[in-house]
Amino acid sequence: MNMTAELGGLVLRNPVMVAAGPWSGSAEGVRKCIEAGAGAVVTETIAMETYPILHPYLHAQGTQFFNVKLYSHQYLEQWENGLAALDKDGARLICSIWGETASEVRYLAACVERMGADAIELSLSAPVGSRYRSYSTYPERTAKIVEAAVKAADLPVFVKLPYEACFFPEMLQAIYDAGAKVVTAIECLKGLSGVDLENKQTFMPTFGGYSSENIRPISLAATAMLKQYTPFQICSCGGISTARHALESIMLGASATQLASAIHIGGYEVIGHVLHGLEDWMEQHDHAGFSEIRGAALSSLRPFEDIRPRPVRAKLLKPCAMDCNICRLGCIYDAITRQEDGSIALNQKACAGCGYCLARCPEKKFAWDWI
Ligand SMILES: Cc1cc2nc3c(=O)[nH]c(=O)nc-3n(C[C@H](O)[C@H](O)[C@H](O)COP(=O)(O)O)c2cc1C
Ligand code: SF4
Ligand code: SF4
Repeated sequence: MNMTAELGGLVLRNPVMVAAGPWSGSAEGVRKCIEAGAGAVVTETIAMETYPILHPYLHAQGTQFFNVKLYSHQYLEQWENGLAALDKDGARLICSIWGETASEVRYLAACVERMGADAIELSLSAPVGSRYRSYSTYPERTAKIVEAAVKAADLPVFVKLPYEACFFPEMLQAIYDAGAKVVTAIECLKGLSGVDLENKQTFMPTFGGYSSENIRPISLAATAMLKQYTPFQICSCGGISTARHALESIMLGASATQLASAIHIGGYEVIGHVLHGLEDWMEQHDHAGFSEIRGAALSSLRPFEDIRPRPVRAKLLKPCAMDCNICRLGCIYDAITRQEDGSIALNQKACAGCGYCLARCPEKKFAWDWI
């Protein structure tokens, strides 16, 4: 089986990439990712200056993951020295850069080319602090910095998209026309973990990046939309932590996938788990390579306007006397009631076919009746 993936003219040994972040915040971090099997590693974003690290920089609550870490705290020279000694061992090195102006981007792009980068990933924004708006809402400014990176180095340029840029046609056109043919989607969303009511203060000291599994549906939508409506090659990023997640992205059109928070949560070994899970699935399903499944699920995704509605009603498959009440409370059409004998009853005439009871009943007691 061929595990390789092609991205911006580069052949990757496999499509499991590591996204920009502290896990790839030094040559040592990059080495760990390579050793764990990554097809390519994107460095934490390298900028002209280093930014102070707020402590703590992570705010995690259950499955919610927030960070207030802004770019790499290593100086350019530290990157230069560290990467000079890096053994890429067949993996690709992608340097993420952020520049305030086109000339900064030009300078950084040339620097990372000298450091041995195989590609550049250009950061447009970070959801930490006020920079969030600086590029992602201005197509002309974005075009200038993309063009600066494209012209400064003889390397493929990937552009890391914040969520809102994925659905902004003028922005996408500007990026494409400026010469970038690969996009990574998505960056963290801007988030706040909550408010401490007793002390009347936010848990986080500033807005931060919201990432991890809860943002996966959003990154999946971005991948599918970009594949359906743009000519870009796509690196899917956002909430990916298992082989199954990576396969979903590929079936929605991604050429490769990037792991981020999953590494902070599960360690570098997550990379190997995803990779081996992918290999196993491909073998079990007798696929010779990812081109056989890339975009395979897109034909099931149609514009809303093209779908012909089919009336449907829920039916109760088996009597239920359990007292969980999930179905009754969530049926806003009052089609589900509890009878005097304690059992659940369904009035099909009142059912609006919303699907809530089918989706949520833990005992799978409901099914569809097509009308
Ligand atoms: C702690 C942390 C630091 C990050 N730093 C960067 C960064 O320097 N540059 C960048 O482009 N993205 C950065 N990201 C964003 C990730 O690369 C990724 O786009 C985002 O976390 C969504 O993926 P996930 O849901 O799998 O974590 C960072 C994310 C986290 C959690
Ligand atoms: S499908 Fe929706 S409307 Fe119909 S019974 Fe279930 S929850 Fe109620
Ligand atoms: S959700 Fe399912 S298990 Fe719970 S009361 Fe309704 S039918 Fe019974």
